[in-house]
Amino acid sequence: MCFPNLLLVLIILVFSFHSGILRSQELTCDSNDLIALNGFSSCLASEIAGWNSSSSDCCTWTGVTCDNSTTPSKRVVSLELGSKRLSGTICDSLSGLDQLRTLNLSHNLLRGSLPTKLFHLQKLEVLDLSDNYLAGSFLEENHLSSLWYVNISKNSFFGPIDENLCNSSPNIQYLDLSFNNFFGEIPTVLGNCNSLQHLILSGNGFRSLPKSIFQLQHLTVLHLENNSFSGPLSDEIGKLSNLVELDISSNSFTGLLPDVFGRLGKLEQFSASSNNFTGLLPVSMVNSPSLTKLDLHNNSLNGPIKFNCSAMTRLTSLHLGSNNFVGPILHSLSSCKSLSVLNLGHNNLQGQIPYNFKNLEALTVLSLSRTNLVNLSSALEILQYCKNLTVLILSENFQEEQMPSDVNLQFGSLKLLSIAYCELRGSFPLWLRGREKLQFLDLSRNHLSGTIPMWFNRFKYLFYVDLSNNSFTGEIPKGLTELQGLIDMNISLEGPNLGFPLFRTTTNGATFRYNKVWSFPPTLDLSYNMLSGSILPSFGNLRRLHVLNLNDNHLTGSIPASLSGMKSLEILDVSHNKLSGEIPDSLVQLSFLSKFSVAYNELYGEIPTGGQFLTFPYSSFEGNNGLCGGSYTPCQPEHAPIQSSDEQMTIFGSQFGYGVLTGFFLTIAICFMSGWILPRQIATSSN
Ligand SMILES: *[C@@H]1O[C@H](CO)[C@@H](O)[C@H](O)[C@H]1NC(C)=O
Ligand SMILES: *[C@@H]1O[C@H](CO)[C@@H](O)[C@H](O)[C@H]1NC(C)=O
Ligand SMILES: *[C@@H]1O[C@H](CO)[C@@H](O)[C@H](O)[C@H]1NC(C)=O
Ligand SMILES: *[C@@H]1O[C@H](CO)[C@@H](O)[C@H](O)[C@H]1NC(C)=O
Ligand SMILES: *[C@@H]1O[C@H](CO)[C@@H](O)[C@H](O)[C@H]1NC(C)=O
Ligand SMILES: *[C@@H]1O[C@H](CO)[C@@H](O)[C@H](O)[C@H]1NC(C)=O
Ligand SMILES: *[C@@H]1O[C@H](CO)[C@@H](O)[C@H](O)[C@H]1NC(C)=O
Ligand SMILES: *[C@@H]1O[C@H](CO)[C@@H](O)[C@H](O)[C@H]1NC(C)=O
Ligand SMILES: *[C@@H]1O[C@H](CO)[C@@H](O)[C@H](O)[C@H]1NC(C)=O
Ligand SMILES: *[C@@H]1O[C@H](CO)[C@@H](O)[C@H](O)[C@H]1NC(C)=O
Ligand SMILES: *[C@@H]1O[C@H](CO)[C@@H](O)[C@H](O)[C@H]1NC(C)=O
Ligand SMILES: *[C@@H]1O[C@H](CO)[C@@H](O)[C@H](O)[C@H]1NC(C)=O
Repeated sequence: MCFPNLLLVLIILVFSFHSGILRSQELTCDSNDLIALNGFSSCLASEIAGWNSSSSDCCTWTGVTCDNSTTPSKRVVSLELGSKRLSGTICDSLSGLDQLRTLNLSHNLLRGSLPTKLFHLQKLEVLDLSDNYLAGSFLEENHLSSLWYVNISKNSFFGPIDENLCNSSPNIQYLDLSFNNFFGEIPTVLGNCNSLQHLILSGNGFRSLPKSIFQLQHLTVLHLENNSFSGPLSDEIGKLSNLVELDISSNSFTGLLPDVFGRLGKLEQFSASSNNFTGLLPVSMVNSPSLTKLDLHNNSLNGPIKFNCSAMTRLTSLHLGSNNFVGPILHSLSSCKSLSVLNLGHNNLQGQIPYNFKNLEALTVLSLSRTNLVNLSSALEILQYCKNLTVLILSENFQEEQMPSDVNLQFGSLKLLSIAYCELRGSFPLWLRGREKLQFLDLSRNHLSGTIPMWFNRFKYLFYVDLSNNSFTGEIPKGLTELQGLIDMNISLEGPNLGFPLFRTTTNGATFRYNKVWSFPPTLDLSYNMLSGSILPSFGNLRRLHVLNLNDNHLTGSIPASLSGMKSLEILDVSHNKLSGEIPDSLVQLSFLSKFSVAYNELYGEIPTGGQFLTFPYSSFEGNNGLCGGSYTPCQPEHAPIQSSDEQMTIFGSQFGYGVLTGFFLTIAICFMSGWILPRQIATSSN
């Protein structure tokens, strides 16, 4: 019984030994490649996980790919070590990998300049060094004759670029030099790169375009945004007839937009935002059958907005905000049936929303803020037919009109509604009641009155509410403290797709830019109203809330200790109310609190010490005669050793009290006189 088993074991052993030898022969990588890789590794300041230097078969190392068909040894053809947290420099020895076809070291922490010898890798096809800290000049005399993809985006490279680039590397199709420190004229030599399809030069300091660029017949993607180009855009751009994407935004281009869109028959996306283009929209542009996305916001364009929707059948996104367009609102646009994103805000338009806007069935995002619109009830009556509308921004229009009270308005998809700065009269819009997808509501700076409805807790996703600067009365409804979107940290929401950034100006004048609705800080702002009653302890449940402004109301009662439950709170302003009692010690647990004000209330007692309270200035507490401690008026000396005798009490009797009071007023008076502290308004809004 034993013997056959032993034999079997022997056979297995022999076989596995044999095949082991075979495998190791198969796997052994070229010794020069091994030296090159070890050299590369030794220049790094970090270990490469998965690299075993005691194993001589580098083909098994992480990120290394060998060509198994070469003899007598396997040659390394690809080195892909993206996002491996590599730091240190790239050294010469890497150029020993003379069969290398792909080198991808993107998304690491590599520094220094590129070794000259790297440019001698004749087989190299793909070079991705993007997102590192590499610097120096790029592509000195190169022999990279097989190169077709180069990405050195997000580094600190600066010029010059090798004069012979396109002669040595005639097959380059993708060239991404974005977000580096290149400046001056775009190298004329790029015009010789006849194979170029994608040319990405954004985020540098380039100042001028050589004519040679317009010879690149295969170019489909050209990104020049965020550079220092100035002057008019040459109409030779029309020669690039294969362009699909053209972005020249955030430069200083001036003059008219060239009327060449008829020749750019494949152009789908054009952005020229944030330049200073003037004049009318070119006829060929407003008749382009290929355009799907057009972004011209923040220029000085004027004239009427007239699009030929019979021609522009593919237009889905149109962003013309912040220009000088004039005329009645866009009858022409209402037949652009594919339009999904439309922003015309901040133009000199006028009139009512035309009735046939209800045909824009695909509309999801509409901004018409500050366009001199009138007749809000008619606007809402019409827009409710756009069933997919998720973002509606109508702020700074309809001056002094009435908020419609029709409870039957639809808007079933609405996620963001902003009708602020309109001085609207009337009451809270009751038609919002069933709009349960709402995430963001801004009705600030109107004259809305009456109470805030009880049913706020129905808005499961609402996380941003600004009702400030209205005339709301009554108590803060409990529903506002039951918003799931402000309670559950991990409630996952799909924020509406904006298609253009939104701006928010905070009370201290800082302006923030948001590309997604969901990135606004979770906020409840009820300031500058006439709300009464107390601050509900259940506010403490709002763990996701970042900003709570209840200032300038008529709130009474004390500050609930439970507010310490608002773990994410950064701003808490309850100033200018009639709150009494002490500041709860528990508030020191609010570790993200950076702005805090209880000024101008009737609070007393010692200001909590520790945590963020060490950083709040005098102005956070002023106007509360009973408060002391912290940066505020010093409290009376410690009740030294506490003794229960009556004698002790008399020492701190009325005389001492007067002393403290006089001291207090004197301090204040001296401060005012010497100009240390000036009484100032806590919050000033601007926009
Ligand atoms: C490294 O390789 C040696 C020799 O091939 C082997 O004995 C050792 O287990 C390997 N170490 C790791 C961590 O893979
Ligand atoms: C080369 O051989 C190794 C080991 O047999 C294998 O893991 C690898 O996938 C092969 N590489 C190629 C490019 O075929
Ligand atoms: C380089 O590697 C990263 C992963 O780290 C990958 O996202 C990227 O697409 C690669 N580049 C190329 C050109 O394949
Ligand atoms: C270059 O790399 C960056 C990431 O580092 C990537 O976002 C970009 O799309 C790449 N460019 C091209 C042309 O592939
Ligand atoms: C423009 O590029 C600079 C770097 O050149 C970068 O810091 C900045 O964020 C970019 N701006 C935009 C809007 O992309
Ligand atoms: C508008 O464009 C100008 C340059 O013309 C730029 O300085 C400014 O930052 C842009 N504003 C916005 C909000 O993008
Ligand atoms: C844009 O150009 C117009 C006229 O050419 C000029 O009045 C205006 O000041 C310019 N705007 C900016 C932001 O440069
Ligand atoms: C609008 O486009 C259609 C289709 O291309 C064309 O027939 C018509 O002439 C254009 N109208 C104007 C006013 O240009
Ligand atoms: C409205 O949205 C739904 C769901 O996203 C989509 O299926 C539908 O096609 C949209 N309607 C129009 C007219 O675009
Ligand atoms: C608002 O529009 C409606 C419908 O077009 C119209 O009946 C009403 O008179 C308009 N109201 C005002 C104040 O213009
Ligand atoms: C309230 O809004 C009015 C205009 O509607 C404005 O004049 C006033 O400054 C605003 N007050 C505050 C405190 O924001
Ligand atoms: C949020 O996460 C916690 C734990 O990570 C989990 O217990 C809770 O159910 C989650 N809530 C939701 C709404 O997913």
